[in-house]
Amino acid sequence: MASAARTFSRAFARSAAVRPAVRSSRLAVPTQTFRTNFRRGYASEAGSGKSSNTFLWVGLAAAGGAGAYFYLNGADASAKSANFVPSKEDYQKVYNEIASRLDAENYDDGSYGPVLVRLAWHASGTYDKETGTGGSNGATMRFAPESDHGANAGLKYARDFLEPIKEKFPWITYSDLWTLAGVTAIQELGGPVIPWRPGRQDKDVAACTPDGRLPDGDKDQKHVRSIFGRMGFNDQEMVALIGAHALGRCHPDRSGYDGPWQFSPTTFSNEFFRLLFDEKWQWKKWNGPAQYTDKSTQTLMMLPADMALVKDKEFKKYAEKYARDSDAFFKDFSDAFVKLIELGVPFTSKAEDRFVFKTSDAE
Ligand code: HEM
Repeated sequence: MASAARTFSRAFARSAAVRPAVRSSRLAVPTQTFRTNFRRGYASEAGSGKSSNTFLWVGLAAAGGAGAYFYLNGADASAKSANFVPSKEDYQKVYNEIASRLDAENYDDGSYGPVLVRLAWHASGTYDKETGTGGSNGATMRFAPESDHGANAGLKYARDFLEPIKEKFPWITYSDLWTLAGVTAIQELGGPVIPWRPGRQDKDVAACTPDGRLPDGDKDQKHVRSIFGRMGFNDQEMVALIGAHALGRCHPDRSGYDGPWQFSPTTFSNEFFRLLFDEKWQWKKWNGPAQYTDKSTQTLMMLPADMALVKDKEFKKYAEKYARDSDAFFKDFSDAFVKLIELGVPFTSKAEDRFVFKTSDAE
């Protein structure tokens, strides 16, 4: 079954990618297989932001300083000095650590990558260009009420996943870590290179954004334009960004929707766009929110908001282009994702100083 499924998956993978799709073997194993298992291993409570490490810090500072902290926690040894200024190599170490932990047999389709991309996006997609509020600078989703916003359901898995990495590299801010994790996931799942730079500072609960800044799956093009327009994106960028739905799946216990958008949900590709046009989509008959399913296998899904990319003439123009031209999609996605994770961040570094991280399969 698994190998038949893999063949099926590969048959659907398109090869015109900027880099070869490296995870095509990990495929949509039925969600049900994992639903009973994927909660295992979660000991920490997310969303509190006030981790017990705060107390540990105070105690250890009294007992002899940061050296003891690093010793006890096995934290990155290169970061012992109080004046430590991380270099590109230090961020590459964080990238490598995230990359080495992405595969997880008991989680969804075998990778934490998709949910990390969603965390980076939801942390950034709260940005409002008029007020300059929201965005990735702050990581305020650590706190309620933002962690409890309906749109953020399930992102606790991603935040919890990153906790041990934050402990190992305590010098990185959550805001930088969450965006770097999204970049890592995209690159490791076969997507384009996403240049990244540090400089985000964590904020406290007072900076939480109001509910309603992220898009709803049940809405149309007007809603999509208004939400992404508020962040400062044009039509082409909106369409490119939504192409991230090549990755991952919907979960009935998170959004209420169910299923993946394509047959190989741990491979970043333009499959979302290709299937949007090549499949026939019909309303799914089920006892859940209105969503589309593909006529031929009835295992895939599209949200009503995804369908806006076909229904709207302007959106359709770009969606068709990305369905045909994987390289164009990879390039435009990378540019738009860089813009997304930098919205509202007061960088001191220049855009040309962004880091390009080596993927784990690079020589
Ligand atoms: C109109 C815009 C969008 C809507 C309405 C939307 C809605 C959704 C919904 C309902 C889910 C399912 C959540 C769950 O049940 O676990 C989801 C998952 C996901 N979304 Fe979006 N989304 C949009 C745009 C984006 C963008 C711009 C990105 C990234 C650039 C993105 C990345 C993802 C990923 C990777 C997942 C899979 C997460 C997982 O497998 O756990 N989405 N989205």
